Amino acid sequence: MTKKVYIRSYGCQMNEYDAAKMADLLHAAQGYEPTADVEQADLVLFNTCSIREKAAHKVFSDLGRVKALKDKGVLIGVGGCVASQEGAAIVERAPYVDLVFGPQTLHRLPQLIERRLAEQQPQVDISFPEIEKFDHLPPARVTGPTAFVSIMEGCSKYCSYCVVPYTRGDEVSRPLDDVLAEIADLGARGVREVTLLGQNVNAWRGTIGADGGPADFALLIECVAALPGIERIRYTTSHPNEFTPRLIEVYARVPQLASHLHLPVQHGSDRILGAMKRGYTVLQYKSIVRRLRALRPQLSLSTDFIVGFPGETDADHALTLKLIDEIGFDASFSFVFSPRPGTPAANLHDDTPQALKLQRLQQVQARIEANAQRIAASRVGTVQRILVEGPSRRPGAQGPELMGRTACNRIVNFAGPAELIGRMIDLRITEALPHSLRGAAWPAAAAAAQRTGESGCASAADSRATP
Ligand code: SAH
Ligand code: SF4
Ligand code: F3S
Repeated sequence: MTKKVYIRSYGCQMNEYDAAKMADLLHAAQGYEPTADVEQADLVLFNTCSIREKAAHKVFSDLGRVKALKDKGVLIGVGGCVASQEGAAIVERAPYVDLVFGPQTLHRLPQLIERRLAEQQPQVDISFPEIEKFDHLPPARVTGPTAFVSIMEGCSKYCSYCVVPYTRGDEVSRPLDDVLAEIADLGARGVREVTLLGQNVNAWRGTIGADGGPADFALLIECVAALPGIERIRYTTSHPNEFTPRLIEVYARVPQLASHLHLPVQHGSDRILGAMKRGYTVLQYKSIVRRLRALRPQLSLSTDFIVGFPGETDADHALTLKLIDEIGFDASFSFVFSPRPGTPAANLHDDTPQALKLQRLQQVQARIEANAQRIAASRVGTVQRILVEGPSRRPGAQGPELMGRTACNRIVNFAGPAELIGRMIDLRITEALPHSLRGAAWPAAAAAAQRTGESGCASAADSRATP
């Protein structure tokens, strides 16, 4: 009988990417089929996240829940960032865990499983072998017209609150030729949109040509844009400190680059940004956005905020609210600061009451939600270029529908034939709902006349205050 693997992934897109790779790898090496039903599984894997305390604790309650499956001979593994941080301590706390592996050793899973069975001992491998992972992974399985491609691993920024540099190791870039070969292959197999992935993608460094000249992220984007079939390029996450003039200029030259940028700012107060060791000021952040919008007036921006960092005053918090309006962010991942063991900020004196922090978080979220609705409403009546990704999650009033995404990363649902899946088409936006748009097919000729190009995401940007 085919063996089945249940994988639960927590945390960021890097973790999701890794989880997909685990499934591919276990399928290729040992014939495992993925299952969404934990009761059916022969192998249960938790790909953990330790960015905040809540995420890290979750894994132990989830482990407790699958413990009983051990009686059926199920193997249990823990990967990801908690595994990387805790290592063998996980087995001490939960002795029924069979495998502990880190983000950089997931490619060794088949061997770890074999050794576990041969030695009848839990196996722990959380080392950081220099980027050998990608040489040991099978080619990606194509599951639609969009794909993620990891271009670098780790982080060397050491923001004072963050565990990532400790759990994922320092920044290591994948070689340019490897990245391009993977994307060319995806393009040949029908992928139209790639999202370049990494903790700080714009810290990517490589070499190009026979003489090994230096290559940066801006150049990488231009190389990807030149590959056949790739019609849209996104990336996440980038860091303000690595946002070079060269990278900004790419927005003028590469129309495939989507007019949406996720650029975490974390806070609106320079005092707090300093304590976070982010390495930039609010003015510098706004200057990046101003230069980008000079080239792409309708660029939409999303971000991350940490609320309630130790020492945050009402005045600091007001600066965050002000920045949200100035930039016109239309989405964000915002969380209350969570002290993480081993990070410098965990030792800072923190006297802000939790209730006040939660109140500030709600204010941040409400402000961004209001922006998002205003921007979505302003898109009604415009024509947007959509990559049709597949069927909508829910049927429309007239039956099944399709969904796609605008360049500025909004989901659009519309009625259309399944043949459109995988194609870039023009839609006229007819309605703005709280978390999606509705569209109607729009004749190509009329669209060409109306649309302002791939970069044209008509939005409330025009009426926003310029930062
Ligand atoms: N490399 C990216 C983000 C990676 S982590 C960057 O620097 O922008 C994702 C987000 O988690 C961060 O942007 C931050 O907002 C949040 N985060 C990280 N550590 C946190 C902590 N200790 N408490 C609360 N939020 C945290
Ligand atoms: Fe964490 Fe800062 Fe690195 Fe982002 S840049 S992953 S917040 S240390
Ligand atoms: Fe979490 Fe690790 Fe990603 S801590 S956010 S899974 S890098």
